[in-house]
Amino acid sequence: MNNKVLRVGFVGVSGRGSGMLELLLQVEGVTVPAVCDVVPERSEHGISIVTDFTGGAYPVHGYLDYREMLAAEKLDAVVCCTTWITHSRIAIDAMNAGCDVAFEVGGAASLQECWDLVRTSERTGKICMLMENCCYARNEMAVFNMIRRGVFGEITHMEGGYRHNLREEICLGRENIHGRLANFRRRNGELYPTHQLGPIAKALSINRGNRFLTVNSISSKSRGLHEWIKQNRGEDYDLFAEHFNCGDVTTTMIACANGETILLNHDCCTPRPYSRDYCVEGTKGIYTEPEDGRGKIYIDGLSAEEDEWEDFTPWRQKYEHPLWRLYEAGGIKAGHGGMDYLILSAFIDAVQSGGPAPIDVYDTAAWMAITCLSEQSVAMGGAPVPVPDFTDGRWIDREPFRRSMYCLEEVCDECFEEKS
Ligand SMILES: NC(=O)c1ccc[n+]([C@@H]2O[C@H](COP(=O)([O-])OP(=O)(O)OC[C@H]3O[C@@H](n4cnc5c(N)ncnc54)[C@H](O)[C@@H]3O)[C@@H](O)[C@H]2O)c1
Repeated sequence: MNNKVLRVGFVGVSGRGSGMLELLLQVEGVTVPAVCDVVPERSEHGISIVTDFTGGAYPVHGYLDYREMLAAEKLDAVVCCTTWITHSRIAIDAMNAGCDVAFEVGGAASLQECWDLVRTSERTGKICMLMENCCYARNEMAVFNMIRRGVFGEITHMEGGYRHNLREEICLGRENIHGRLANFRRRNGELYPTHQLGPIAKALSINRGNRFLTVNSISSKSRGLHEWIKQNRGEDYDLFAEHFNCGDVTTTMIACANGETILLNHDCCTPRPYSRDYCVEGTKGIYTEPEDGRGKIYIDGLSAEEDEWEDFTPWRQKYEHPLWRLYEAGGIKAGHGGMDYLILSAFIDAVQSGGPAPIDVYDTAAWMAITCLSEQSVAMGGAPVPVPDFTDGRWIDREPFRRSMYCLEEVCDECFEEKS
């Protein structure tokens, strides 16, 4: 890694973007000379976040149009926290302008969008990284370490979900200038697959010896958003009679080339506690997480009582990922318990190293594509839809991955030796 100080442009300064910008500024080797949001106050807010942090150490320019920012500023990289349907366009333009790019999570609206990301990254040689922070969550990383050490035996099935009561955020999208509302009105399917699919795909070596083959999705009826509007805004509210296309719960199955199955749940319109429902099943045991962050585990022959759950905490202490050991020793920085800082650090490390990123453009495309494929499957009553191979056959025998502290293919113990 070279320690070049990077000039990073930041696009999208709403709730998520503000928090990510504050964290990005704390990553070593980063300056943010340009921020952009189509909403003028948010662009201004971005400038104040940077100047508050730097104390005015360098000038920061605000933009309303990211294309003007790309043309006017000499940037090394762009971080994009805009709405789901704008990520790819901004990422493609950023790569064409010579920037490495990382953007926030969300599914693709079309396969063409995914192919365009892949082809642009291949042609320009620029990094295109989906910032799937859950790949760096503490439990997920410890479970990954256990999977690679064979604790679960051979993995047969994995599950995950995005189960998050977002009714208010979705319904008040116009009042709060928030991007989800239009998607729930018009689309029906697995709109937000990657939070658990990211860690699952890495555990199953998708795009490196394995790949997604087919997607089947079904959606329940849509009731939750209407009910929230009825209770909280009443009959005079203009969305009272709105029919929301997106079902309250979308259930998706993915089949993999190596025989594993994946179950995903998308569930944002029900009053319920948050959960990502992570579950790993293998020939030697199971990990499951019905409540957010509270894992349970059973391993044949190792768990104290036969067929009885154990609390995951002592297992996590034993199998803590070395990145988390290091990170905890240095003082965890905020943002979803620390994983936001780690995903930003992973991107900056990849840019400074000249790539590739731990989540590359093939991962980005394959994970995002699940959304538009699930919409097709729902529309066809749950019929299987094939998943394109965005690697053009390279998944069968890929070039070696880059070993680093942030690597998501293996646990690269040697990268931590000099630091411990
Ligand atoms: N990884 C996580 O844990 C996590 C958490 C929350 C949100 N997110 C994701 O982060 C993203 C942003 O989330 P949010 O809640 O802040 O959404 P939001 O809709 O409130 O904010 C999006 C922002 O992007 C701006 N924008 C839209 N198009 C633009 C363009 N062309 N140029 C410049 N600015 C543009 C909007 O004005 C807005 O300020 C979404 O993809 C969301 O799914 C991820």
